[in-house]
Amino acid sequence: MKNNKLITLGIESSCDETSAAVLLGGREVLSDVIASQIKVHQVFGGVVPEIASRHHLNNINPVIDSALKEAGITLRDVDLIGVTYGPGLVGALLIGLATAKSMAYALKKPLVGVHHIQGHISANYIEHKELEPPFLALVVSGGHTNIVNVSDYNHFEVLGRTRDDAAGEAFDKVARVLGLGYPGGPLIDKAAKEGNPHAVEFKRVFLEKDSLDFSFSGIKTGVLNYLNTQKLKGLQANVNDTAASFQLAVMEVITAKTIMAAERMNKDKVVVAGGVAANSLLRQMLKEECDRKGLALYFPSPILCTDNAAMIGCAAYYKYQSGQEDDYYLDAYPNLAL
Ligand code: KG4
Ligand code: ZN
Repeated sequence: MKNNKLITLGIESSCDETSAAVLLGGREVLSDVIASQIKVHQVFGGVVPEIASRHHLNNINPVIDSALKEAGITLRDVDLIGVTYGPGLVGALLIGLATAKSMAYALKKPLVGVHHIQGHISANYIEHKELEPPFLALVVSGGHTNIVNVSDYNHFEVLGRTRDDAAGEAFDKVARVLGLGYPGGPLIDKAAKEGNPHAVEFKRVFLEKDSLDFSFSGIKTGVLNYLNTQKLKGLQANVNDTAASFQLAVMEVITAKTIMAAERMNKDKVVVAGGVAANSLLRQMLKEECDRKGLALYFPSPILCTDNAAMIGCAAYYKYQSGQEDDYYLDAYPNLAL
């Protein structure tokens, strides 16, 4: 094994967060600075790729400077540079990638490209110091919904994925039609706490028997149809009830498929990651089901659920430890497969 007290600089810019982090070894976070663009994109109701790239360009150097300063180190102390190279918005990815490559070249330090989903899963290693693979991972974010068999730090098999919208994307779109704002996930989570989850029975989409895939575009249309029908009847739909009913329908499917996958793969640990992992109902339902089945359940704290560079640095560390390293031809891949 290579030196396990390496100092890793992690860089993340795949969507609307510019982030840099410094890690000591794989799991000790010395700093994790995140410049969020939520306010910039809020007026558009979603992330505008071109605007995101421009903000990454403005933010990247100050964010890296802050991360180094907060960690009490200089660039010369960095042993390894890890950067997200996909999937994500290509213009956004390129900013982090070009920065990481030029730093690696100038400092003559190793460079490791990280898959964004591997990063999300790795957030759990930071949060739970004792956690080791193998386990079953559920990755639910604005761009992804995947059930993954994690057999080792660097071995992944995608068992199920969304065939249309990602879970977070469905939350964001439904929040928009309910007039709740952006990003919709936390707002639906909050509204649902005041609503009746059994007020509207939205269809649970399980697809073919035994399938671990997801489909969330139907429920989004279901919410729209329900709102339109209420309107035609001259009735005002209750926003909290609709949010609670939508959330329950989505989380019932996600919970059932995650448990089914864990049992099928004979896993005793379930690890959840991504922005939607912050959802309070998902946490509660998975906890109840995992307790019932005797499965251990792991979640990162909310700040490590959303996009951040500490998770990227952690994943880069484990890739490097297994002998993986990239050269300066490393490119950005918007649809990179896990
Ligand atoms: O992982 P993330 O920060 O970015 C991507 O890689 O996509 O995830 C962002 C997504 C957004 O769609 C947001 O609405 C959703 O995570 N989200 C939530 C919650 N907090 C964030 N969805 C449901 N409930 C939440 N509490
Ligand atoms: Zn993400």
